[in-house]
Amino acid sequence: MGKIKGYIFDLDGVIVDTAKYHYNSWRKLANTLGFDITEEQNENLKGVSRKESLEYILSLGNLSFPDKEKIKLAELKNSWYVASISGMNDSELLPGALELLKEIRATGLGISLGSASKNSERILKSTGIFEMFDAIIDGTKTTESKPHPQVFLMGAEALKLQPDECVVFEDSFNGVKAANTGGFISIGVGNADTLNEADFVFPDLEGCTIEKIENQISNLK
Ligand code: BG6
Ligand code: MG
Repeated sequence: MGKIKGYIFDLDGVIVDTAKYHYNSWRKLANTLGFDITEEQNENLKGVSRKESLEYILSLGNLSFPDKEKIKLAELKNSWYVASISGMNDSELLPGALELLKEIRATGLGISLGSASKNSERILKSTGIFEMFDAIIDGTKTTESKPHPQVFLMGAEALKLQPDECVVFEDSFNGVKAANTGGFISIGVGNADTLNEADFVFPDLEGCTIEKIENQISNLK
């Protein structure tokens, strides 16, 4: 295997500290509907589209609503989420993310976003990193949700690379699964137990360099 030519980043929980806002907003919705959700259940929401997340939440509460109501509930959750990220700036970038993006940019290697979020452009702009991406593939462009690999396959295609020439950074179990299914090298960012299907896991991106990544990849062989 040659050196990695493309770097595909999930957004929420990898580059920015927004996973907690998604959780808080879904929890508020569940509470409004009369029940609560746990952090463990929240793991299943990470990487999953807004629509599918709502279906999961409603199943936890044993609730069903007509489609029209579901759209309203998803909008309500999103309004709370958007309010919580409204004052966002570069202080919400997770440790090491900016440094790694800068290093990759400086080498001229490809960078794509691979996120389920429909709020990604707003987040990338408010944190000042929008221009660092060669391609932005997000929930406004995909039709399939992780663990389907579509979002990453579209990212590789936009970079004109094959999956095995790219690494994917993911903080969710579903995202790691998507990367593996698509034939990418999967790098878990976060808890090694939760992300046990990743090729390797970093607790966060702090101190994560191209050299470290290439070293880990050569250990896989
Ligand atoms: C993913 C998050 O990145 O985006 C999920 O991990 C979220 O929690 C999904 O549901 C969709 O995000 P949004 O911003 O379109 O509601
Ligand atoms: Mg994520």
